[in-house]
Amino acid sequence: MCGIVGYIGKKEAYPVIVKGLQRLEYRGYDSAGVALLNGDLNIYKKKGKVVDLHEFAKDKDLSSTVGIGHTRWATHGEPNDVNAHPHTSQSGKLAMIHNGIIENYAALKTDLLKKGYSFQSDTDSEVFINFIEDIYINTDVDLAEAVRLALTKVVGAYAIAIISLDDPTLMIAARKGSPLVVGIGKDEFFLASDATPIIEYTNEVVYLDDQEIAIIKDNSLTIKNIEDVELKPYIQTVDMELEAIEKGGYDHFMLKEIFEQPKSIGDCLRGRLKSNEGKLVLGGINDYVNKIMNADRILIVACGTSWHAGLVAEYIFEEFCRIPVEVEYASEFRYRNPVVSEKDVVIAISQSGETADTLAAISLAKSRGATILGVCNVVGSSIARATHAGSYTHAGPEIGVASTKAFTAQISVLTMMALMIAQKKGTLSERDYHNLLVELESIPDKVAKALDLNAQIEYISEIYKDATNFLYLGRGYNFPVALEGALKLKEISYIHAEGYPAAEMKHGPIALIDENMPVVFIATHDSSYEKIVSNIQEVKARKGQVIAIVSEGDTEIPKMADHVIEVPHTHDALMPLIAVIPQQLLSYHIAVMRGCNVDQPRNLAKSVTVE
Ligand code: G6P
Repeated sequence: MCGIVGYIGKKEAYPVIVKGLQRLEYRGYDSAGVALLNGDLNIYKKKGKVVDLHEFAKDKDLSSTVGIGHTRWATHGEPNDVNAHPHTSQSGKLAMIHNGIIENYAALKTDLLKKGYSFQSDTDSEVFINFIEDIYINTDVDLAEAVRLALTKVVGAYAIAIISLDDPTLMIAARKGSPLVVGIGKDEFFLASDATPIIEYTNEVVYLDDQEIAIIKDNSLTIKNIEDVELKPYIQTVDMELEAIEKGGYDHFMLKEIFEQPKSIGDCLRGRLKSNEGKLVLGGINDYVNKIMNADRILIVACGTSWHAGLVAEYIFEEFCRIPVEVEYASEFRYRNPVVSEKDVVIAISQSGETADTLAAISLAKSRGATILGVCNVVGSSIARATHAGSYTHAGPEIGVASTKAFTAQISVLTMMALMIAQKKGTLSERDYHNLLVELESIPDKVAKALDLNAQIEYISEIYKDATNFLYLGRGYNFPVALEGALKLKEISYIHAEGYPAAEMKHGPIALIDENMPVVFIATHDSSYEKIVSNIQEVKARKGQVIAIVSEGDTEIPKMADHVIEVPHTHDALMPLIAVIPQQLLSYHIAVMRGCNVDQPRNLAKSVTVE
């Protein structure tokens, strides 16, 4: 995710752009840049936040009434000055900002290299603008048409804005998959990833739809689709408070991030998984596949929610790859004297990529010769840099302190890793491999269906919001889900909650059960279904209140549970991706009803950079 802003009109463009970029920093903040037209094309870009860009640019020539700006959340290429946007074409005449990922950029780049193009950055975006320029200079079309033709050939997601030294009255924008809003003022136009940079100047906006192109030329706006059909702009009035728009209309970042999961999981799978081709590619670990296949064991180190994703991965790797796995709290691992050898592969999981304990665990394992892989969300983060290789989760910036979409993206990446290894190792039949790919590809839709349960879960939350304790129970793949459910509730509602393997309940937690104890069972239709039904009966016999998360169509558990939440069915190994959704919503609603600060819970931090 990145934030983009454009301005063309009579005002000074730079202050409008910089202020807008600051509003969009929630979308990414590893580097920022602007391009300004004023007889010349002046480009200023800098690694770091928008404030660092401003510090760098403030004494430069900023006079201009036409410009574009970008705040980056790196996907291709590490965050640095060169990879920062805007990117220019080889002629130096075109400048572009881009939010998204061009999946076929490698093929486009190969063709352009053959034609003599050279590239300064590692980004897909620089390839994109040169691809447009190549069409522009080699065909007899204007720039807008060259952009349209290019868009018919690129695969992936984009929100772009382009300006040209040849024509300071022109700005071209387009979107597919990434958001883009056009603001219409008096003799001026704005572009932005959301309306926040625009609303203080005008409340008239056009939200571009996928595969639409906006051409602003000589103070008028034309919208067409990529089939070259001109469309009547649908002008809407924005009537929202600034803060609300920053959260995309949601009350809290956490709720927004919970609801983003169909998209964030989709982004994580995109370009990596194609079930109809039996294709699974994780480019970042390609060179390490043999090493993982032949590892004596896999050690997973992580903290918090990432540790829970690690537990799910343990079950998946052991089941499909037949490699022994151990999951360690990074904070414990680093302070004991673990046995680690060069035949071990360590997977470090971290949303932020900055957690101090996980970093320290990596350096300990590295010093003993192990191979270290990273599963991080933040591109270019310390953990991503400290590992030998890895795969990003591509979940987009997670702002709510309680992790939600990062968890499901981590499991998605780790599942892809395990399936890739299992197929190469031959420990999974081709049929099972293929079925799992199909199922994994269907997860974003199934998560969307699970999110439809929001109103029912809000109703259940009202009943239990004053509870002082909660128990979460699950078996097999759903045991880590129980741990994660309990953690979410503790973190944001301050209700004491424990997650337990359901079968282990009889060795302790059963003593706590009475009519005041809500027990969340994750009891989907898997291989331990019959066993967990018995556990539910044990709780009911002691008058506990049972909230059961079950597979759609279950007829058994509704006869005994107090509340039944039906989620779409999937393969046992993928169920955590779906079963966790109602738990996230339950903890969110309970916390809101208790008046807690959901996005910034007391005593917690998003990224724990101290030991
Ligand atoms: C903090 C956050 C948690 C997160 C944990 C690990 O405790 O509040 O949400 O799970 O750190 O963070 P990481 O960035 O390494 O995944």
